[in-house]
Amino acid sequence: SGKLAHPAQPQWWMNCIPELISVTPPSEPLYVYAESAIRRSASELSQLTALSRLFYAMKANSNRQVLDLVASLGLGLECVSLGEVELAREVLSSLGPAAAANGTAAPIFFTPNFVQRSEYEGALAFSNVLVNVDSMYPLRQWTSTFAGQSIMLRIDPGVGAGHHDHVKTGGAASKFGISSADLAECAALCAEHRINVVGLHAHAGSGILDPHQWVLHAELLASHAMRHFPRATILNLGGGVGVNPQCPQSDAFNFAQLNSLLTAFSEKHPQFKLWMEPGRFVVAPSGVLLARVSQVKSKSGVTFVGLNAGMHNLIRPALYSAYHGIHNISRFGMDGDRDTMSCVVVGPICESGDVLGRDRVLPASTSEDDVILIECVGAYGRSMASTYNLRPVASEILARMF
Ligand code: LLP
Repeated sequence: SGKLAHPAQPQWWMNCIPELISVTPPSEPLYVYAESAIRRSASELSQLTALSRLFYAMKANSNRQVLDLVASLGLGLECVSLGEVELAREVLSSLGPAAAANGTAAPIFFTPNFVQRSEYEGALAFSNVLVNVDSMYPLRQWTSTFAGQSIMLRIDPGVGAGHHDHVKTGGAASKFGISSADLAECAALCAEHRINVVGLHAHAGSGILDPHQWVLHAELLASHAMRHFPRATILNLGGGVGVNPQCPQSDAFNFAQLNSLLTAFSEKHPQFKLWMEPGRFVVAPSGVLLARVSQVKSKSGVTFVGLNAGMHNLIRPALYSAYHGIHNISRFGMDGDRDTMSCVVVGPICESGDVLGRDRVLPASTSEDDVILIECVGAYGRSMASTYNLRPVASEILARMF
């Protein structure tokens, strides 16, 4: 009953269903990323000519091959832990001297939140890491760590934005950023201790489709810089560029509009260099999770399709009620997909929240060992996986042929 939810536009994985079926292991789920889709996202981002630098927020997907690819496309890396910084340094150094010469002095941008003093010290020791301080506490309490250093400051934009409350990072209730009310004190403290504030940063949240968000950040940060930090020349407008969950590889985001808004801003304020740091947009549509049907069960009028993948592999549906398209590719486009059933797609984890999709329409013929493809999981999929219930973390491959 019902129609299969095929995306409105063709997705990369539709062209290689036999290959995807053949790489799916019999008893473990697998993440597959398509190189072509990452290249496509990066080229869409390259429309943002008003930016002088783009960073990739590596928390979205820190697979080594994905990082190598993204870095080779000229993006810097935005990190949130020393572990990420260390991996980012390895990635950038493996690119070789030519790439290093191409980049800027600080291809790694480190934006930690509520970390210990030692973590700041570790990052400040690396000359190619620019540290973004998002609280008055480190500056007040650990002043000697920052004295004489060049840093950026993360400002709370005052209101959050994004696809779910959990991913909004602005406003009084958010733990991120320095309040604009503290900036006068902050500027005095930095001046007194020769802390060189080279730029300001803001990030409102994740999954934002309205280009005006980043222009708001530009205006806000510029006014704070002009008032309090006249030597700051970099404005990092944050990440958060959204992807249409129903049709990930679509032109949902209007880069031309964002670029013209940012270009107009730069004409008004030529003293500033603009940066951004998207994560999701770069990798989300490139990734699919391949899983096998374990059991099909009907109980009290509800049909459950069980997979060998669950919330330990992909926590976004459980955590944010996020939508991911779910397709039975063993039956894709066959006669068998005309008769459909409405079902709840679940995993093997011992939690009632282990649901990957509710009210989904799958072929009525769906049966044990069929290959199920879960869409748009290249961002915050494998990177948020756990070994809950002592289930192993899924393997990943970056496929160059797709
Ligand atoms: N910059 C900062 C300071 C961030 O905190 C984040 C994401 C980004 C950039 C990249 O945001 P993106 O472009 O990927 O939206 N796990 C959630 C998303 C959490 C985002 C955390 N910060 C999800 O699966 O939706």
